[in-house]
Amino acid sequence: MTTRTTSLFALCIASLVGLLMNVVLTTTAMACAMCHPFASDTHPQAFPKYQVSMNKFATLRDMINWCIEKPNQGEKIDSDSDAMKALEAYIYWSNTGSVLVPGKY
Ligand code: HEC
Repeated sequence: MTTRTTSLFALCIASLVGLLMNVVLTTTAMACAMCHPFASDTHPQAFPKYQVSMNKFATLRDMINWCIEKPNQGEKIDSDSDAMKALEAYIYWSNTGSVLVPGKY
């Protein structure tokens, strides 16, 4: 793919998943974007890391599921599912250019 088609493709994916982030996933009527507009404060570049709230060394997918279960009070999704990969892709894409500062988050 040329750079142009690649970025168009990335934009299409991002807007689709942006929709997913804004979709209300659970009965608490909360969408990820209510707390993380444009995937803010998700710090994907910091994973895997020790996550105090889970008391374990966690991956980004673990953290996404934690947020689905706890603040969203929903049911975990399969960590290998297309929806999980889409959420992960959107979070990485939205954080393009973020700098890794070990131990900061
Ligand atoms: C009610 C608010 C709320 C909602 C809704 C929410 N989150 Fe979170 N999210 C948080 C809080 C608070 C933290 C910090 C938790 C911690 O560090 O222990 C967090 C942390 C995260 C992190 C890790 C950030 C880091 O630096 O450790 C990710 C990734 C994340 N959320 C993704 C999501 C996704 C995806 C959804 C939707 C399924 C979602 N969140 C919905 C409040 C929310």
